[in-house]
Amino acid sequence: MLARRGGWESSASPFLCAALRLLLVTAALPSLVTAVTRKNLKPAAVSPWRTLSGDAPSIVAKGGFSGLFPDSSEYAYKFSYVAGSPDTISWCDVRLTKDGKGICLPNLVIDNCTTIGDVYPDGKTNYIVNGETTSGWFSVDYDMKTLLPVSLKQDIYSRSNKFDGIFPILTVDDLVEQVKPAPIWLNIQHDLFYRQHNLSMRSYLLSLTRHVILSHVSSPELGFLSSIAGRLKKSKTKLIFRFLGEDTAEPSTNMTYGSLLKNLTFVKTFATGILVPKHYIWPVTSNGYLQPYTSFVMDAHKEGLEVFASDFANDAMLSYNYSYDPLAEVLSFIDNGIFSVDGILTDFPITPSEAIGDDVILDS
Ligand SMILES: *[C@@H]1O[C@H](CO)[C@@H](O)[C@H](O)[C@H]1NC(C)=O
Ligand SMILES: *[C@@H]1O[C@H](CO)[C@@H](O)[C@H](O)[C@H]1NC(C)=O
Ligand SMILES: *[C@@H]1O[C@H](CO)[C@@H](O)[C@H](O)[C@H]1NC(C)=O
Ligand SMILES: *[C@@H]1O[C@H](CO)[C@@H](O)[C@H](O)[C@H]1NC(C)=O
Ligand SMILES: *[C@@H]1O[C@H](CO)[C@@H](O)[C@H](O)[C@H]1NC(C)=O
Repeated sequence: MLARRGGWESSASPFLCAALRLLLVTAALPSLVTAVTRKNLKPAAVSPWRTLSGDAPSIVAKGGFSGLFPDSSEYAYKFSYVAGSPDTISWCDVRLTKDGKGICLPNLVIDNCTTIGDVYPDGKTNYIVNGETTSGWFSVDYDMKTLLPVSLKQDIYSRSNKFDGIFPILTVDDLVEQVKPAPIWLNIQHDLFYRQHNLSMRSYLLSLTRHVILSHVSSPELGFLSSIAGRLKKSKTKLIFRFLGEDTAEPSTNMTYGSLLKNLTFVKTFATGILVPKHYIWPVTSNGYLQPYTSFVMDAHKEGLEVFASDFANDAMLSYNYSYDPLAEVLSFIDNGIFSVDGILTDFPITPSEAIGDDVILDS
């Protein structure tokens, strides 16, 4: 198992303070005030949500609060519960190690998000991934033991590097231990790549589900999702088909995601929901202006599919129509009077927490 560098409780305060300071810098405070005001005005009764179930939309924290701490780190996961809703779903991008262990890391090429290049300077290789030569460090070349000295770092360079080199890589089981009893969403990509390395995501996942209850499993690979659909049918786990760019070919069928989008009836045969880039729902022009919403959420709801929207980040370029307010952006997806997505995948889970009006426990 991984060496821990002190528990959350004992070592949290210096980091927490730094984190809170950063949060203030990223202007979370004014929005907090807004959230409190709105909450007080909201009537307590009937559900106003236009989600498929009528429940409030889910908040899915991509690698935890990855806008602040390194993606998939212990503090990133824990801080999303400190700063946001207790119902937040922890998202892990699963990669397999050489010895078949599942670890959470945001990219298939792991040199930007970890210190592996410093620890194993000669580890760079080239592999073919979905037909394209890709170069860098890959988890399939390392077993769990050789990954112990490797730690996580922020892979988006405009974000704080204050927490780089501190947190160990987490296995999925580590994550489960740390966020218990919060729900867990595993995103599984590149099944074909792991198979070329004689590793089976399917066997890994099915053996994991014997002792871990997963709320969601997503994949952009149709072949993979349908291969586990039968086995997970009786479980509570929701299977989500992830759409990538419209022109990208889905690797197991070679159909583009754009063409699969027109066949949601077919998608419904192996998935209970879909995850799409947010511009599928609210397109943005190349010069940053918002276009009218598409009928996408309504169409998917008609098929009985839940819709999750991805790519939310408070420090990314927003459409000008939101006047630089990430809260306004989230509200346009969940509270526009016409439709609501069923969940938001974000690097800053505090923002949908505020938008939904869940309790934000951030006492100064
Ligand atoms: C890693 O960082 C380099 C620049 O430092 C960038 O060109 C590359 O696209 C990044 N890779 C990933 C997977 O983000
Ligand atoms: C996978 O297994 C096959 C058959 O045992 C072997 O020929 C091949 O070299 C292995 N591939 C890798 C990447 O280990
Ligand atoms: C997908 O298309 C590429 C190039 O057109 C081809 O080489 C490959 O075999 C196709 N794969 C499948 C699964 O049809
Ligand atoms: C939807 O996809 C299925 C499976 O590929 C295909 O049989 C069916 O004809 C498609 N329907 C439409 C309307 O494209
Ligand atoms: C976004 O702003 C532009 C410029 O004011 C306006 O023309 C456009 O209609 C707005 N988009 C939406 C969806 O309101």
